[in-house]
Order: sequence, then C-alpha cells, then structure tokens
Amino acid sequence: MCGIVGFTGKRQAAPILLDGLAKLEYRGYDSAGMAVSDENGKTEVVKAKGRLRALEEKTDNGLAVKGCCGIGHTRWATHGEPSEENAHPHVSDDMSVVAVHNGIIENYQEIKEKLRKKNYSFYSQTDTEAIVKLIDYYYKKYNAGPVDAIAKAMVRVRGSYALAVMFKDYPGEIYAARKDSPMIIGTENGESYLASDVPAILKHTRNVYYIGNLEMARLSPEGVEFYNIDGDIIEKKYVEIIWDAEAAEKGGFAHFMLKEIHEQPKAVADTLASAVKDGRIDLSSVGLTDEDMKGIGQIIIVACGSSYHVGMAAQYVIEDLAHIPVRVELASEFRYRTNLLKDNDLVVFISQSGETADTLAALRAVKEQGINTLAIVNVVGSSIAREADNVFYTLAGPEIAVATTKAYSTQLIVSYLLAVQLAMVRGEIDEERYSSLIAELMSLPEKMQKLLENKERIQWFAAKFANAKDIFFIGRGIDYAICLEGSLKLKEISYIHSEAYAAGELKHGTISLIEEGTLVVGVLTQKELFEKTISNMVEVKSRGAYLMGLTTYGHYSLEDTADFTVYVPQTDEHFAPSLAVIPLQLMSYYVSVAKGLDPDKPRNLAKSVTVE
Ligand code: F6R
Repeated sequence: MCGIVGFTGKRQAAPILLDGLAKLEYRGYDSAGMAVSDENGKTEVVKAKGRLRALEEKTDNGLAVKGCCGIGHTRWATHGEPSEENAHPHVSDDMSVVAVHNGIIENYQEIKEKLRKKNYSFYSQTDTEAIVKLIDYYYKKYNAGPVDAIAKAMVRVRGSYALAVMFKDYPGEIYAARKDSPMIIGTENGESYLASDVPAILKHTRNVYYIGNLEMARLSPEGVEFYNIDGDIIEKKYVEIIWDAEAAEKGGFAHFMLKEIHEQPKAVADTLASAVKDGRIDLSSVGLTDEDMKGIGQIIIVACGSSYHVGMAAQYVIEDLAHIPVRVELASEFRYRTNLLKDNDLVVFISQSGETADTLAALRAVKEQGINTLAIVNVVGSSIAREADNVFYTLAGPEIAVATTKAYSTQLIVSYLLAVQLAMVRGEIDEERYSSLIAELMSLPEKMQKLLENKERIQWFAAKFANAKDIFFIGRGIDYAICLEGSLKLKEISYIHSEAYAAGELKHGTISLIEEGTLVVGVLTQKELFEKTISNMVEVKSRGAYLMGLTTYGHYSLEDTADFTVYVPQTDEHFAPSLAVIPLQLMSYYVSVAKGLDPDKPRNLAKSVTVE
C-alpha cells in the first residue's frame, strides 16, 4: 500500500513531511524515508528501517535535514524485503532524479532489463527503482524537461502508481503522476502539498485537488499546474474536505474494517495482477516450477482462524480442479501431532501476519522433516515468509482492523490461482477451461465492487438481528467453508454466539438448539448441493427458525423457503466464496455497529497472535 507526501514552500520541509507521514503510517510501517532539497537542488536522502520513529530519530525530528522542498514515504513492502536499501526515496545514479512511489510496476523486470542494456545498474530489489531510472533515461535522452520524461515513462510502464519526483535541475518543484493509486494535492498561502490521503495535509489546507488517472502535476510554492499524458495543461477545480481529522484517517469510512471491506476489489485485482501475465498464471516469482507441481503427492494446508477457513475452501477447489488430495489442519493441533508426511508432499502455510506462533512452529516442524513448504503471506519479510521454502505474497496491503477481510479475500485468490495452475500443469484441464477460469478470476474485482454498492439491505437486516442470542450458518461443500468464515466474523466482533455447521450434520445434534425466531443463515452457491441445503433449511424452519438465504442470481426458488434472500453475482462455483463472503462481512460489521461496539478492536483479541 505505502504512503507518500510532498511539500514545497517557505518553511523547512522535513518536519512537515514527518508530520504528514505520521498520519499515513496506517498505509505501511516497515520502513520510511525522505528526500529534501535546498534552493540549489542539492538533495539529501535519509532512510530508516522500521516504524517512522526510526526516521524521526535519525533526522532529529526533521531538524537535521535542511531545505524547503521534499518528498517522503512510509513503506509497505511488496517487491523486496523491508530494508534501508529498499526503502524510498529511490534515486538515479547521479541523483538527477529522486522519487517516492505507491503502487506496483508490473513490468519492472522488463524495464530493468532494457535499462541494463543502457548501462544502468540497480541497487535495490524494488519495482520503484526501475521507474525512477526510466524517467532519468528519458529525461537525459530527450532533454525536454520533467513533464515529458515522466509522460514517456508512464506510457512504458504497466501497473499502478502515485509518484512524486524531484529533479536536481528544478529546485523547489515536485512533479507528480498517478494511475490507479490514490493521490491528492493542496496549495495554500505560498505552499503546496501532496499526499496519498487527506489526513496528511488536512492541517495545512482543506481545499484539495484530485489528480486523475494518467495525469501529472507540477507543484511549486506559487501553486500547482496539471497536465494530461500529452503534456498539455489541464484545468482542475479543488474540492473542500469537510471530514474531521479522525474520519479522514479512515478515508471517510466510520471504521477501518468497513474501509478494508471496500478495499477488497483493489486488493484482489492487485494480487491477480501479480501472478497473471498475458492471460496465463506465472508462478516464477513464487519459485514453483512445473516440475515441482507435477511431482506433488499430497497437499497439507496449515493455518489458524480465518486463514484456516481459506484452507477449507482451497481444499474443495484444489481437489476438484487439480485432483490432488488435500488435508487442512489447524496449526495449533498439527504442531503437536505425529504427522506422517511423505517426501513429495507440499505443506502450505497461510497467514496474513506471517507471525502467528502456532503456524510458525508448525512450519519449523515440517522444515525439520525436510518436506517442501510454501507460505501464503501478506506481510513481506515476516518470519513465516522468511523461513518457508517458497512464498506467494498476497497484496492486500496493511490490515488494521483486527477482524480480517481483505487479507482473507486475497488468500482465497492465491489458493484459486494455485488450484488452476496445478490443474493445468498436471493435465487435468484443457486450454479452453484454463482460459475461461482465468477470465472468471479476472472478473471477480468488478463483481465484488457491485456487491459493495448495494449494502443498504444488509445494513437494515443486520440491525433487526443485533439482539440475537444465537445465529447459525449452514451450507455444504464450499458453502460450508464460507459459513465458517461468516460465523467467525460475526461472533468475534458482535459477541453473538454463532456456529457454522455442515448442513447435513444438523440432525446429528445441533438442531436441538433451534428455537422460535433463531436466525439460521443458509449459504447455497453450489448448484448440485442446492436442493440438499434447501431441505435442511426447511427442517430448521419447521422448528421455528427465521431463515436468511445467500445464493447466486438465478437461484430464485430460494425465496419460497427463506424469509430474507441475498444474491451475489454468478461466477464459476469454485470462486463463489470470494463473492458470498462480502454480504457476511457486511452483516457482521453492521450488527457490531448496531450494538454500539467497536468492530475494529474486538475485546480479548489481537491482530497478530504471537503466543501459543
Ligand atoms: C479473524 C482473524 C483471525 C486470523 C488468525 C490467523 O478475523 O483475523 O482468525 O485469521 O489469527 O492470523 P494470521 O493469518 O495472521 O496467521
């Protein structure tokens, strides 16, 4: 995710940059840096690994760095581990060009290759260094100024970026460019500001410009000019921000959880883009070769909590598509059992934080046996990511709310990508099916977005059940995996007792808990199991249950049984969890809010569970 800031004016830049970065630390906190230049364009770059405090200490709270024009960055690593070298700003060899970047340059390897042939060398593992040096290359080659050089680079790169660039030859000026990553600009009283998000500049101005996709800007103390990609000046009107400072930090959302629920289409799109190249899945950055994939005998997935629920969904998808036997294990159980693993097994560890104590201990135990391990992790450079043989990073960005939403969704995506690629490599599906599955995956972000645009019905329904004593979730197959996650989400932030049951198991005991008015949520996204789960819903209804049904468009007969029905867009049934989980996340969130609780910080829970 990352946060960027920029300032040019009459005051010293460094303290203003640090203050802005502190407001953006929720966007990333593994390293930070700044570049400040004086009136002659002499630039000093300071970077520090760790939280912003480290940069504050290194710069004596900004007092040790002199100059009235600067850019700053707080990093959430995607390419390259958290380190001083990989921290931003990044610079061209002779410091002509210095920049900070938020986003992902997808074709950075290709750009690095091209530049190496022009005698450029690279000191970091980042994608950002590639775009900085590409700008430097065009700047020197065409000698037509910063706007021209940035525009040429924008045409050449694929991916997303919010870029702030300083040129040695243009002291007091900051150049900005944007595509699909957020950036706002403000100017007031002979000073100009730039940031990833409103809170960073709210103290200085409430009038902000939103820079559009494929647009550029030139900031100077006198004001700001905007350009289109052809380099023509364009007019923009500012918008007055009326949020208070706290709401601004959450992007105008009432809670981080709601914000993160809304970030899911982007997080999923980023994760897909990291592995799908020209319509094919490319796992070369994960390090899994076709030979590795062909040789796998069994997959064992080990995780905790919601990450375990992803494993449950992955089991159905991998077994059905790739025909490889899959076992799913709770890390806290797995680590203390005799595990009869074979040499050709692949053990997959799923973890948002990459620090969960049980998952880490289970990983170490498996590694001791010499079995191949793969981690699906969100936090770059975390212990699990470092210690596993291979890592598939989810690109969810930092998750602040304790209850996971966007990390869960990106973990699901990674498990689908693995399933589809395993199926293809092992000859279980043909080219046509492969392409159609990938196309379906690529359409998920848009479908998720549609779901998020229609949340009012869920909000209304959630308020009705805010005082419920017990809520049950039932489903079969993949729908059972969705139920597990829906139930955990609800109980952890609303404190309502809730159980997820495989629908067919109800009659073996749990049905005795159903009373008049008990809410039972049936999840029915799988055509073959639809009638079976309907029968189980009828059974609980005849014992007094109030029924909510969650299904895909087309299954309209559910309305004959359910009292309240929610539809999600159609997709390949293997990928239904990605859509069906969204109404359940929203329901949990709104129940929690209706009860007057803080969904971001549920009692007794911590974001990262580093103890057994
Ligand atoms: C629930 C939740 C937890 C985590 C679990 C594992 O909303 O967030 O159940 O999924 O603590 O954490 P990670 O994925 O960091 O290993």
